[in-house]
Amino acid sequence: MMQWLKRLAENARSFVTKHTKLTILIVLALIAFFTFISIEALHFSSDPSFCKNCHPLDKPGPLGEVATWEKSIHARAGVKCLDCHAEPGFIGYMRAKMGGLYDVYGEFIKGPDHKMHVLMSTSDPAYAAQLVKNDICLFCHSDEMNKKIRSNRIMSLGVSFRLVDSVKNPEFRKKWGLPDIIVEPIRPSAKVDPHHKMHYEMGINCVTCHAKITHSGITGYRSNMQICFHCHDERRSEKLHPPADENCLACHRNQESLYPQGPITFGKGDSAVKYEHVVHVAVFGCNACHMTLFPMQRDGVKIAFTDHTAGKLCFSCHNGKKAFSYTNCTNCHLKAPVPKAPIVYKPEGAAPVTFSHQFHTQAFECNKCHTAIWPMKKGAKKMKMDPMYEGKFCGVCHNEKVAFAATECDKCHIEAKK
Ligand code: HEC
Ligand code: HEC
Ligand code: HEC
Ligand code: HEC
Ligand code: HEC
Ligand code: HEC
Ligand code: HEC
Ligand code: HEC
Ligand code: HEC
Ligand code: HEC
Ligand code: HEC
Ligand code: HEC
Repeated sequence: MMQWLKRLAENARSFVTKHTKLTILIVLALIAFFTFISIEALHFSSDPSFCKNCHPLDKPGPLGEVATWEKSIHARAGVKCLDCHAEPGFIGYMRAKMGGLYDVYGEFIKGPDHKMHVLMSTSDPAYAAQLVKNDICLFCHSDEMNKKIRSNRIMSLGVSFRLVDSVKNPEFRKKWGLPDIIVEPIRPSAKVDPHHKMHYEMGINCVTCHAKITHSGITGYRSNMQICFHCHDERRSEKLHPPADENCLACHRNQESLYPQGPITFGKGDSAVKYEHVVHVAVFGCNACHMTLFPMQRDGVKIAFTDHTAGKLCFSCHNGKKAFSYTNCTNCHLKAPVPKAPIVYKPEGAAPVTFSHQFHTQAFECNKCHTAIWPMKKGAKKMKMDPMYEGKFCGVCHNEKVAFAATECDKCHIEAKK
């Protein structure tokens, strides 16, 4: 064996001394050949179609990462797996390739249970944020981080393996009409302004709010309100002041789409009440009423007359302090509704008395009795017969002039039929 090797080496040496130029050519050709093979191998093994061998499913969830990516807005912009799943720069790329070897080991040696376990770990936002770090997103989505990373790293060795290494900002994001999300306002087309800078400076990760941006399987996937609420509710205890969940306008910019533009009508006919969001939203945030007073849905509450006097619902404001009082019936009701049920009194030492609004309002306006004689509240005044004989209470009319006299006991005190 050794003999044979020695002879080969001697032959080679004499070949090299005889044909120096040819040798150099051959060596260069070999280097070029192997470089070509390895670059091709790198390209090939970086393509989503290669990843699909081991991430093959066609539905969202673990193993469906390639199919979901295909539908994402990033795929349509040519942003591929290793643009996010590897640090920008040549070393970041090569490191990811090494990591790929570990994937192969995981695939064939550790088996499917291990694989599923790893792929499911991203449901933990902290794990997901480690997997794709802020800097990677910011490399494309901000200018400062892009410049910082570009000036610190070798971006490529002449051969371009992927998109991210060639990304230069602001040129790249301008080409796509994207803002610098740290220093510029969000695009007008976005419905929600997330205050990027503030959350970024608090150390909150892109992936926390943008979870599943690539792997939801939905084109144009949006962030999710529950993610915001979950953290805001949790952090309220720490002397921080995230907006109340009901304060829709803290996050939503085109608020008009969120509340009814026309009136909401309570009740029917003459006494119906029109409630206008437009008037109230000009003065109050949504959370002045929702969800404390009213649920955010039609027919969520029934408003009764007792609410008027007890200062509930509308009347927590319409009490003459924050807004006009409930006594201005016709500010709300086209026509003030008459209580339908008669008012029944059960005095001690006499038969029950029934007072009928339906009957009396045929002849009298409300203001004949309200509030000169009574406020609009049953039992507001304690009534006795003696003052009534002298022309007070019912006696204002039941004096034999306007109506039968107060001494005609059994016209008012009617024994219940047995
Ligand atoms: C030979 C099969 C195989 C191929 C090809 C493959 N993967 Fe994987 N991948 C796995 C296995 C197995 C795991 C989980 C096991 C582990 O990390 O130990 C995994 C995990 C991952 C993870 C999650 C890592 C983590 O720590 O949570 C990412 C991201 C990933 N692969 C991306 C890719 C990308 C991008 C490609 C294509 C460039 C690719 N994979 C190609 C087998 C493969
Ligand atoms: C725009 C950036 C981006 C691109 C492009 C991207 N991913 Fe991901 N990927 C993420 C983020 C962020 C996560 C973390 C979990 C999440 O939010 O979905 C993730 C998670 C994963 C995981 C972990 C398991 C899982 O299902 O959560 C795998 C595997 C993976 N990606 C593979 C791929 C493959 C394969 C491609 C290309 C076909 C790809 N990714 C393209 C950002 C990206
Ligand atoms: C290689 C560059 C690149 C990387 C890395 C990248 N993006 Fe993007 N991103 C883009 C481009 C380009 C668009 C514009 C796509 C379009 O408008 O078609 C975009 C669009 C977006 C949008 C707007 C989506 C929409 O529906 O309008 C969000 C949100 C976003 N990226 C978040 C992220 C997050 C989060 C990360 C990191 C996990 C990330 N990006 C990583 C290039 C990148
Ligand atoms: C506090 C939650 C939150 C965090 C953290 C966050 N975003 Fe966003 N981002 C949003 C919301 C909400 C939108 C509006 C569009 C939507 O609903 O997806 C948005 C929009 C975007 C857009 C589109 C901008 C536009 O003008 O249309 C990009 C790009 C983006 N984010 C990138 C990032 C990057 C990169 C990070 C990490 C540095 C990040 N975001 C962190 C919530 C967040
Ligand atoms: C991981 C935690 C976390 C998540 C997720 C989060 N926020 Fe916040 N947000 C906070 C905290 C904490 C504050 C309060 C900061 C303070 O009081 O200084 C805040 C404050 C805000 C404010 C008030 C800004 C101001 O200038 O006062 C807005 C608006 C907001 N968040 C929007 C969002 C939106 C939209 C989302 C979801 C897309 C979201 N946040 C997700 C933690 C979070
Ligand atoms: C902490 C911020 C925040 C608050 C407060 C908030 N939202 Fe949202 N809302 C979001 C985010 C983020 C989304 C998803 C992103 C998007 O649709 O652009 C969303 C989405 C929505 C959508 C779906 C939008 C669509 O077109 O599909 C509706 C409807 C909505 N919110 C109504 C409300 C109402 C009503 C309130 C007040 C009770 C409210 N939101 C309060 C952040 C918030
Ligand atoms: C002054 C009180 C008040 C304010 C402020 C207010 N609302 Fe309302 N809202 C109501 C009442 C009352 C209803 C009807 C409830 C019922 O029918 O039981 C309602 C109903 C709604 C409904 C359900 C409509 C339907 O057709 O199902 C939505 C959506 C709504 N409000 C959104 C909002 C939003 C968004 C804001 C802030 C921009 C807001 N509201 C501010 C009082 C208010
Ligand atoms: C959070 C306090 C608040 C609540 C709750 C409230 N209002 Fe008002 N409302 C106001 C204020 C303030 C005004 C305008 C100032 C004024 O005229 O006193 C107003 C004005 C009105 C007006 C006059 C509108 C116009 O065109 O000028 C009507 C009618 C009205 N409210 C009906 C209602 C009804 C019906 C409800 C219950 C479904 C209700 N309001 C609940 C505070 C409130
Ligand atoms: C701020 C607006 C507002 C004012 C002022 C107001 N109401 Fe109402 N009232 C309502 C609303 C809204 C309802 C619920 C209507 C419905 O659901 O039929 C209601 C219901 C009633 C009902 C119950 C109707 C039924 O069918 O159950 C009576 C009775 C009533 N109002 C009487 C009055 C009287 C009398 C006044 C004047 C002293 C008055 N209201 C002033 C808003 C108002
Ligand atoms: C003939 C006199 C009279 C007239 C006219 C009259 N009321 Fe009354 N109203 C009463 C009396 C008496 C009470 C009970 C007072 C008491 O018990 O202290 C009452 C009580 C009420 C109550 C409270 C009911 C309750 O259950 O608490 C309402 C509401 C009311 N009136 C509305 C009206 C309206 C609206 C009109 C005009 C359409 C009207 N009233 C006209 C005599 C009258
Ligand atoms: C503003 C004047 C006025 C006041 C105040 C008044 N009434 Fe009458 N009432 C009348 C008139 C007018 C009639 C019908 C004429 C007649 O029968 O003499 C009438 C009729 C009645 C009747 C007979 C019709 C029926 O409804 O069965 C009863 C009972 C009655 N009133 C009870 C009362 C009681 C109880 C009070 C006090 C709580 C009261 N009224 C206050 C003017 C009034
Ligand atoms: C116009 C209707 C009306 C007539 C007529 C009337 N009452 Fe009354 N009476 C009432 C009302 C209303 C009350 C108060 C009920 C309450 O507040 O519980 C009352 C209360 C009483 C009470 C208990 C309070 C007190 O003053 O001691 C007695 C007893 C009574 N009436 C006896 C009589 C007698 C006896 C007559 C005939 C001489 C008479 N009433 C005629 C309406 C009438």
